[in-house]
Amino acid sequence: MGDRRAVAPTELEAEIGRVGRVLHDAFPSHRGRPLKALDDRAMDLAGQDEELRAALFRFVDVVPACRSLDDLAAHLTGFLGEVGERPPSLRAAMRMGDTKAGRAALGAAGAAGVRHMAHRFIVGEDPRAALPTLRKLWRDGIAASVDLLGEATVTAAEADRYALRCDEALRTLAGAYDRFPARALLEGDAVGPLPRANLSVKVSALTPLLRPEAPVRGQRDAAPRLRALLRRAHELGAHLHIDMESLDSREAVLELVLDLLAEPEFADGPSAGVVLQAYLRDSPDTLDTILEWSGRTPRAQPLVVRLVKGAYWDHEVVEARQHGWGVPVFERKADCDANFEALTARLLEARPLVRVAIASHNLRSVSHAIARNRMLGGAPGDVEFQVLRGLGDDLGHALAASGLRVRSYCPVGDLVAGMAYLVRRLLENTANDSFLADQAHGVPLEQLLAAPAPVAS
Ligand code: FAD
Ligand code: 2OP
Repeated sequence: MGDRRAVAPTELEAEIGRVGRVLHDAFPSHRGRPLKALDDRAMDLAGQDEELRAALFRFVDVVPACRSLDDLAAHLTGFLGEVGERPPSLRAAMRMGDTKAGRAALGAAGAAGVRHMAHRFIVGEDPRAALPTLRKLWRDGIAASVDLLGEATVTAAEADRYALRCDEALRTLAGAYDRFPARALLEGDAVGPLPRANLSVKVSALTPLLRPEAPVRGQRDAAPRLRALLRRAHELGAHLHIDMESLDSREAVLELVLDLLAEPEFADGPSAGVVLQAYLRDSPDTLDTILEWSGRTPRAQPLVVRLVKGAYWDHEVVEARQHGWGVPVFERKADCDANFEALTARLLEARPLVRVAIASHNLRSVSHAIARNRMLGGAPGDVEFQVLRGLGDDLGHALAASGLRVRSYCPVGDLVAGMAYLVRRLLENTANDSFLADQAHGVPLEQLLAAPAPVAS
C-alpha cells in the first residue's frame, strides 16, 4: 500500500473494541444461533466425550469409500461401537444397534440428523438448485464462493467426474451472475474489477494420487484437470479458489497451483486464490513463499490469499502423535489466534501484491482485520471477509450492513459428498476452543474481544 501508516498497539486495541461492539450491535435483530445449525444431540454428544470425537474423526477417513447413507450409517455405528466409556444417550443408541430393527431405526435417526444439519450448510444438490440462495445473498450485498462438495477421490473416473461438475458449475454460475444487478462493492476494489462468479475446489478431489510419499505423481495427475478449469474460469471471467486441506498435501497443492498460475497463458487471468492456514506453526514461512512468488510472477489479477485458522486441527494432532512427530499446529488456541492476527497484518501490508480475504467467524479476529485496515489507511473494500454458509450468516450480514465486502462459502452437493465437511464443522464447533461455542455459552463481549495472549516462544 502506498501511504502506509504506523499502527500503535494501544490505539489498535481501542479501535478493535469499537469495531467489535459496532459489529456486535449490527447482528440481525432476530439473531439466530449459528450452532443451532448443528444438530443439538450431535453437539452434546461430540462435546462431551473425547473418545467419541476421535471415533467421529476416524469415521471421516472412510467416508470417501461410502456409496450411500446406509453405508455411512453402518460405518458410523461401527466406529461408535469402539468407544469405551459411552455417555448414556450413546449407550442407548448402541443398544438399538444390537437388533436389526434397532439398526434400521438408528440409521434412520442418524440420517435424519445429518439431513437436518446438512440443510443448513449445503445450499443445494447442484449449482442450479443453489441459484435462488445465491441470488438472495447477492441482493443482501453478499457475494458467494460455491464449493462443490467432494474430496479425497479414490479413482481417476471420480476425479474426471468432479472436474466435469466443476466445469459445469463455472458455466452455470457465470451465466446466472451475469444477470444479477450491479453491486459496486462486490465487483471491484482499488486494484480493479472482481469476478462475480467464484468457485472453490479441492485438489484431492481432482486426483486420487495425492499422497505425501509421492507428491509429484499427484501433482502431475491433477494438473491437466486443474489447468482445464483455470482455462474455463479465464474464458468466463470467473474466479477459481483452491482450498487447502491437511498438511500432508499442503506443499504439493501450493506448488501445483503456483506453478500452473505462472504458466504464460494464465498471465492475463483468471483471478485465482490459495488458502493460508494460521494454525500451522510454519505458516509465516508459507506466506514468505506466496509473497516471494507474487513478487516475481506479474499477473493481471493479484493472487487472492484467503487467511483461515485451519479445519483439520484434530487430524493434524492425532496424525503427529501417532507417528511420534512434532505437532505441526499450535496447541494453544491463543497462539493460533495471535498468529492469525500477525498474518493478517503482513497480508494487509503486502497489498497490492496480493488480494486479502479474511475467513473467520471470530468477532475478535475479524474486528482486528477491520481496525488494522482502517489504521493502515485502507479503503473498506480493499479487504474481503468470508464466512461459511450456515455458521457465519449473522456475522456476514452484520459486516455487509457495515459497508464491507462479504463472501459466503456455499457448499453444493449431496449428503454423502458433504459428510466429511459436516463432521469437520461438528468437531471444530464442539471443541473446547471455539469462538462460536464461547459466544453461544454467553461469554461476555469484552472477553470475546480481548487480545489473544502473545505467541509462545
Ligand atoms: P475460532 O473459534 O476462532 O477458531 C477455531 C479454530 O482454531 C479451529 O478451527 C482451529 O483451526 C483452531 N484451534 C482450535 N483449537 C485449537 C488449539 N487448542 N490450539 C490451536 N488452534 C486451535 N479451513 C481450511 O483448512 N481450508 C480451507 O480452505 C478453508 N476455507 C474456509 C473458507 C471460509 C470462507 C471459512 C469461513 C473458513 C474456511 N476454513 C478453511 C475453515 C477455517 O479454517 C476454520 O476451521 C473455521 O473458520 C473456524 O475458525 P474461526 O476463526 O471461525 O473460529
Ligand atoms: C472445509 O472443507 C471450509 O475448506 C473448508 O472444511
